[in-house]
Amino acid sequence: MSMRSVIKSTTITQILKKKGVEKITMLTAYDALMARIFDGEVDIILVGDSLQMSFFGEQDTLGSTLDSMIYHTKAVCNGAKRSLIICDMPFGSTITPQLALDSAIRVYRETKAQAIKLEVGFEGLKSIEILVQNGIAVMAHIGLKPQFVRSEGGYKVQGKTQESMESLIALAQKIEQNGAFSILLEGVKAEVAEQIARSVKIPVIGIGAGAEVDGQVLVWSDAFGFFEEFKPKFVRQYLKGAELLRQGVRQYVQEVKNGDFPNQHESY
Ligand code: KIV
Repeated sequence: MSMRSVIKSTTITQILKKKGVEKITMLTAYDALMARIFDGEVDIILVGDSLQMSFFGEQDTLGSTLDSMIYHTKAVCNGAKRSLIICDMPFGSTITPQLALDSAIRVYRETKAQAIKLEVGFEGLKSIEILVQNGIAVMAHIGLKPQFVRSEGGYKVQGKTQESMESLIALAQKIEQNGAFSILLEGVKAEVAEQIARSVKIPVIGIGAGAEVDGQVLVWSDAFGFFEEFKPKFVRQYLKGAELLRQGVRQYVQEVKNGDFPNQHESY
């Protein structure tokens, strides 16, 4: 047996047990290189459909396809062996319970992802139920749903009125009843997010949802300063990645041009 095959990956049960005990950490990754760096450092790696923006350079996530998500999830699974890996279901791949099941079965068959994530409202509860009944672990994404950016005319903070807050709490509770193992809560006021996290026993992982939830997720290129066009309010930059990389690129160019690279130790 090789060393690689005995490495134990984080399980869903371990994630569930963290609620109320320690915060859950999650980052996105889209390739093996990044996944290898994040592996074992964060609890969960999400192959998010944000790759359509971060990796592919588009304005929203809607162009990602099941094929592209599977391709990137395979790459992440090649790089990461310890963190739990979740594949995001792209726009249009879960519009009926049967389609959601067919799409998720492809993800499970063709990749080693341990769970899938899907953006849902009340209409998606049946899909969650069917997925879970068929052995697929589900993270439900609620609140601000980026796949609705075109129909809603932008990214809008959710749960601002009493009615919409109550509706989000009711949705979270139904999601738990239908068997999802966790909730990703995006773009919700901190007080509302806290109430949602308290109203369910499954972990609620937030992005732009304040600190009183069970964990946090960030898109890696935002967190490490590779996306420079703008910085959303909820992002903290842990590195000036683009600046550092640019410095390296400029030094390389300069050293090639002035004949410094390669030297005799770097030549055969
Ligand atoms: O696609 C994604 O990366 C997401 C973020 C909100 C984490 O869903």
